[in-house]
Amino acid sequence: MLYILDVRLGWLTDIHLNFVPPLKRSEFYARLRREKLDGLLLGGDLGEADSVTNFLAEIADGLRIPIYFVLGNHDFYHGTLAAVRERVAREAAASPWLHWLSASGPIPLTADTALVGHDSWADGRLGDFFRSEVTLNDYLLIEELSGLEKQERYRKLNTLGDEAAEFIENRARETLTRYRNVIVLTHVPPFRESCWHEGQISNDDYLPHFACRAVGDRLAAIMRAHPDHTMVVLCGHTHSPGFARILDNLEVRTGGATYGEPTLQEVLEPK
Ligand SMILES: [Fe+2]
Ligand SMILES: [Fe+2]
Repeated sequence: MLYILDVRLGWLTDIHLNFVPPLKRSEFYARLRREKLDGLLLGGDLGEADSVTNFLAEIADGLRIPIYFVLGNHDFYHGTLAAVRERVAREAAASPWLHWLSASGPIPLTADTALVGHDSWADGRLGDFFRSEVTLNDYLLIEELSGLEKQERYRKLNTLGDEAAEFIENRARETLTRYRNVIVLTHVPPFRESCWHEGQISNDDYLPHFACRAVGDRLAAIMRAHPDHTMVVLCGHTHSPGFARILDNLEVRTGGATYGEPTLQEVLEPK
């Protein structure tokens, strides 16, 4: 197994490249190249169903470094979950640079640290789903989520959250048998405390649509059982930055975003 020593990883999230003109995208890739990164963590909401694979290919071509990514809800807009997942899996399989974490095992980064991840989905279980009148475009623009009664939609969101939780739990447990530290890349904040919105924690109307409790519950249980290990979760989705310490050994960083202004959140240097 190959380890990258002194690894420098750039973390991006919610770059929504469909709102960024081509010249500005090229300038953004040039700025990332100047960082001399060894790899990129890409946290979802890159484009929409008809553009996400093109943007993945464009970033890969612009940077030519390993790119570990997850998808966000916007990446499925005007399409279906099934078709986008299939296209993205094919694009990643054909590329030497693209690694879709929702279809990958743990990625070794250093001798002590590995990376796991999953797109994840807000599962409706935090806040008050049934009183919330928030309607995300997800429920209009993604085929599997549109035209559903509230109860049906809740069940579908639960299922998507459970799918993410199951996957991340298995990968994280596998990782912790061999590594001291695990980085989890995901789109949706997994805890209420990590679900920032304009400097505050999202309220009960927004939490059901902005956070995934299923993932958070599993991650907290795993880390309570592994007090000598550490986990850092990187997420986005709310476009409001924040930090949450959930346990002594479990922290969550939520990335900020502004449409049309893609930014580098942070350069991580895991040891
Ligand atoms: Fe976003
Ligand atoms: Fe999102």
